[in-house]
Amino acid sequence: MSLDLEISPASPCVGAEIRGVDLAQMSDETFGAVKQAFADYGVLFFRDQSLSPDQHIAFAERWGDIVVNRFFSPTDTHPKIAEVRKEPHHKKNIGARWHTDHSYDIEPALGSVLVAREVPKTGGDTMFAGMSAAYDALSEGLKEQLNRLKAWHSSRHSFGYRSEIDWNDNDGRLQNPENALQDACHPVVITHPDSGKKCVYVNPEFTTHFDGWTAEESAPLLEFLYAHVTKPEFTCRFRWEEGSVAMWDNRATQHCALNDYTGHRRVMHRITIAGVAIS
Ligand SMILES: [Fe+2]
Repeated sequence: MSLDLEISPASPCVGAEIRGVDLAQMSDETFGAVKQAFADYGVLFFRDQSLSPDQHIAFAERWGDIVVNRFFSPTDTHPKIAEVRKEPHHKKNIGARWHTDHSYDIEPALGSVLVAREVPKTGGDTMFAGMSAAYDALSEGLKEQLNRLKAWHSSRHSFGYRSEIDWNDNDGRLQNPENALQDACHPVVITHPDSGKKCVYVNPEFTTHFDGWTAEESAPLLEFLYAHVTKPEFTCRFRWEEGSVAMWDNRATQHCALNDYTGHRRVMHRITIAGVAIS
């Protein structure tokens, strides 16, 4: 491991802040250590980075191919970068419910790299929850049941024609509900492809029901799981500053963006990295 890399866990279950690294110019050795930390902690935080959009893309491409989100507006100059913007007059924000990005895709995204470009003086933090710690804390009986279940994930109710989006209050989203047509079925418990840890993989934003169950039948157990996996002891909270970077693993974590800064601008740049089918 690189000698100048400093890793500080953000909580006992999930997340770590890494100091002593410049994401714009990292040796392969340092990148290897960052990758290991990513598998260990699920979400990594970096401060005082000055990544240009091109450097943001170059860093993301070290991990894999970039997925262009079909619902978010790209930046004016870089179509591979999605802009997550909340203006002072907007009341809603993007990502306020706990979720994993792209769980509605057949091959869900590996993770996302979010760069803070403009943040309010206070507020706008992001919460992360660790899905392997949440799984480990379940009873053996429930684990056994969950290991046999699959669940459906959809973007239709969030981004499609049935969504309740007020387009005037969501500058960051594209008005293309026709793209929200494909659902995906995934195991309720996945084995993380890198860490080998078992992780709960249902989330309140995109999961609709268990495979073979009705939505009504699914709701009580899903609600239990949503409340369980987001218990404070499985979470950490990240306070953004301009130049902060967070990179999270969508297979190992969930996140939610706190909406407590209405009246102030918050502009973030997000790149999402392609994943593989999960099992
Ligand atoms: Fe998100």
